[in-house]
Amino acid sequence: MHVGIIMDGNRRFAQKEKLFPRFKGHLYGKLALERLLKHWVKMGKPKYLTLYAFSLNNLKKRSTIEKRFIFKLLEIGFKELLNSQDIFKNKVKILFVGKKEKCPKSLQNLMKDIEQKTKNHKNKFLTFCVCYDGQEEIVNSFNNMIKKGVKKADLKTIKKYLYTKDLPQVDLMIRTGDEKRISGFLLWDISYAELIFRKETWPEYTPKMFEDDLKEYEKRKRRFGK
Ligand code: FPP
Repeated sequence: MHVGIIMDGNRRFAQKEKLFPRFKGHLYGKLALERLLKHWVKMGKPKYLTLYAFSLNNLKKRSTIEKRFIFKLLEIGFKELLNSQDIFKNKVKILFVGKKEKCPKSLQNLMKDIEQKTKNHKNKFLTFCVCYDGQEEIVNSFNNMIKKGVKKADLKTIKKYLYTKDLPQVDLMIRTGDEKRISGFLLWDISYAELIFRKETWPEYTPKMFEDDLKEYEKRKRRFGK
């Protein structure tokens, strides 16, 4: 099973909690993610978990100071993963997808290092979308097909050239923060996904809510799966 999450609402959380500047909300977003990952490694499923950490649109539209803050947080968080028992004991393979060359060099090196050190893990798969946009991913796939001289595009070939070539289709997409949008998340792979939109902001999202969302998914599958 593959679950994708759009972690939205960090700044609105900060606003509610009267934190300033509002982008401090990302700190609480990072805490919510740590809580969830600690729980996920112990769960039987999903085997695949993919998180929208930073979009190409974020890169274009957020202020320099906020971007610097997020990239620093990602760097701190990813370093923690690299030193985490949870990842190595449970054999979690970590992948980063997106236009990674748009990230600061130090972050690029760190991501490469983590991919390298977890590349033989096969138990669970944790993917972070960084500087990612689903339309850009599809355009990139076509350009790489052209470069390789592919004469005809079909479903299998397009997938083979996506950043997510090694990941299965998404079964369940969860978005927090009360917006009912896809925002370019894993466009190719969510074609048949069930969608859950939550009112809670990302920092408020708990492992219990994740368990509930999986139950809701199972219910929908029983109703419509046949
Ligand atoms: C969306 O909230 C969230 C982001 C743009 C950044 C997500 C980053 C994290 C959760 C930190 C993750 C840390 C690691 C280690 C991966 P928003 O700013 O769009 O909030 P808003 O919708 O309230 O404005």
